[in-house]
Amino acid sequence: MLVSSFLLLSLTTLAQGFTLRTWDEAYALASTIVANLTLPEKASILSGVGQFDSRCVGNTTPIPRLGIPAICFQDGPAGVRLVKNVTGFPSGINAASTFSRRLMQARGQAMAEEFKAKGVHVFLGPAMDIMRNPKAGRGWESFGPDPYLNGEAAYSTIIGVQSVGVQACAKHLVANNQEHWRYGLSAIVDDRTMQELYFYPFIRAIEAGVTSIMCAYNQLNGTSSCHNAGLLGPNGLVRKAGFRGYVVSDWGATHDSVADNANAGLDMEQPGNNIVIGGGVFGVGGTNLAKSNSGVSTARIDEMATRVLAGYYRLGQDDPSYPAVSFDAQHSDGSGSLNLHVDVRSAAHTALVREIADASAVLLKNNRTSTATSGGGGSGNGSDGGSGTTIRGLPLAKERIKTMAVVGQDALLPNMSCNDLNECNDGTMSIGWGSGSNSLQYIVPPITAIQNFVGTGATIATSLSNDLSAGPAAAKGKDVAIVFVNAMSGELGGYDTVVGNMGDRNDLALWWKGGSLVEAVAAVCSNTIAVIHSVGPVSVSWSQHPNVTGIVYAGAPGEQTGPSIVDVLYGAVNPSGRLPFSIDESEASYGTSIVYNSLGFPVVNYTEQLLIDYRYMDAKGITPHYPFGFGLSYSTFAYSNLKISTSGSGATSSVVVTFTVRNSGAVAGTEIPQMYLAFPASAGEPKRVLRGFDEVKLGVGASAGVTMNLNAREISTWDVKSQSWIRPAGTFTVTVGASINDVRLTGTF
Ligand code: NOJ
Repeated sequence: MLVSSFLLLSLTTLAQGFTLRTWDEAYALASTIVANLTLPEKASILSGVGQFDSRCVGNTTPIPRLGIPAICFQDGPAGVRLVKNVTGFPSGINAASTFSRRLMQARGQAMAEEFKAKGVHVFLGPAMDIMRNPKAGRGWESFGPDPYLNGEAAYSTIIGVQSVGVQACAKHLVANNQEHWRYGLSAIVDDRTMQELYFYPFIRAIEAGVTSIMCAYNQLNGTSSCHNAGLLGPNGLVRKAGFRGYVVSDWGATHDSVADNANAGLDMEQPGNNIVIGGGVFGVGGTNLAKSNSGVSTARIDEMATRVLAGYYRLGQDDPSYPAVSFDAQHSDGSGSLNLHVDVRSAAHTALVREIADASAVLLKNNRTSTATSGGGGSGNGSDGGSGTTIRGLPLAKERIKTMAVVGQDALLPNMSCNDLNECNDGTMSIGWGSGSNSLQYIVPPITAIQNFVGTGATIATSLSNDLSAGPAAAKGKDVAIVFVNAMSGELGGYDTVVGNMGDRNDLALWWKGGSLVEAVAAVCSNTIAVIHSVGPVSVSWSQHPNVTGIVYAGAPGEQTGPSIVDVLYGAVNPSGRLPFSIDESEASYGTSIVYNSLGFPVVNYTEQLLIDYRYMDAKGITPHYPFGFGLSYSTFAYSNLKISTSGSGATSSVVVTFTVRNSGAVAGTEIPQMYLAFPASAGEPKRVLRGFDEVKLGVGASAGVTMNLNAREISTWDVKSQSWIRPAGTFTVTVGASINDVRLTGTF
């Protein structure tokens, strides 16, 4: 028995082409190698070779005599960027909307399989920046405003990525929450807010064994993130949280002297030269670091090099079968000498992209009614009635719909060659722009998927622009009109302003007058379905319009956007996505703002502390249009039998919460139960915080038991005085339900 499982293990290892080592094993190996390196060799693996002088977006210098290749760093968090023949995965915010650890991990693994097959060593993700403000340009790269959800998603993604032997890089450390002025703004964040909110996802990343962390462009409390000893030093946040890997700078995020950065705790600089306002501190190839007067001790350089190599050895990247880099990111158009375009896609990855897109679509509104038109038997209770029945709302009854309209530019294929960063918005929005974008080989746009699915079963009138006259003209009198609208954002940088938005969105409005388009169509069609593709919350003042019978918030779902929306609209998939943020009309409901105008780099005070998004709304008594965690299903679910047990004390205390969920409706589906915790009042916590979620797949009438565990940290607050997590005395209230405001079970401990 023992022998055969050992053989099995070896075979698995061989098949995957790498051996995962423990940190201790990796350190032992790395130290031996470092002892054999010259100072210039050590320095050469601690800095990039220059922004435009390498195949990947970041590269170190190879050491051929020891068989160490150039370590290749490549964006980004939603799939390989600046290459060809890769899959366009859904955004991070869509992974968050699934509330499925299974899919988060599967996404990480599938992406990493493609990074590895292209020869990349370090996946520049996941992004885990808290969506402090709903308009934050890069909010969609990460997992939303809630630290627990962000942390769980980061954890699962990293486990998935590193399971195939690719290093993950948790970014951006820290308080990198707006694009305007990002190259030097100073975020002022107090210690408790840092631990409980902005640093929290990094704690989970470290627990997942992440091999690298990227320090950010912005300053934290007046000191640049990349030479901030409070973050990176021996007593800084990351090391105290148990991080054993290396810290790499964001591209050009280094300032001042080589010693300032290295001695503060920065282990590697990328890309090695100046890119925007900083950079070049360690010197291209580490030349400055290798100088005898660098001010950095040999011991420190050894530590840096050991950390870098430990990441490489821990994931078995020294295995001779690790693929060589087969692309040239500097010539992603195919003009470069090394641009082999190895095709790393697979049917399984395409299917996974569609599954995640399906599972991340959030059904915000569904007024499903059936009305007898000519003696048919509609009852208005969801039954499809007889043949003379008009059905409104979702899912669409394919066989009943004879005339339909598809309206809106967002249904259309965008210009696929607008540039490699997806900086355009002239069709469907499936991913934001900037380095978090992916290389979309193709997109199946909604109009194509709908036409393919409907075939000759219905006539489809189209108005594939946001023209406020043509849209209603196409929709008038149709059995159903589906209106596609969007809003987009992305990264500031050398990157463009898109439709007047410089990274961060200017406002929460749908782009191209999308809200007016929905209203104009709803004015003439009593069965108007709105599909929103957006990077974050948008204003939906029209949502209560009686003719808007359904709303699907589909986020930024990646290349399978069309097929997935067909799955949800026509009911092949029962929606189970949940909002990873709240949706309300105005930014004032969210408790923060973005600093757009400033005379020089601003100081941004995080005075709201822990109160962002739903936590702020809770504190101010604001009921949003759609609360955090909200999402409808085509079925209904009943909750029962809440039990709470506690054990241990202090650092060993834990709580186990169990309950039962039953599918009480007429269709199979997946429920996403969520657990929120109200701390004792004396703790000074937000009124309720997310502390658990699960996906429960249930056939009609079926039930399942759900267990959620809370560890000591999850029932503690950060105590500034003792610099530790302390469980406050008093009674905690547990609420379990289908969103933060849809509470089904309540208990205490
Ligand atoms: C800058 C971005 O902030 C970071 O996320 C990215 O990984 C690097 N550029 C490399 O492209």
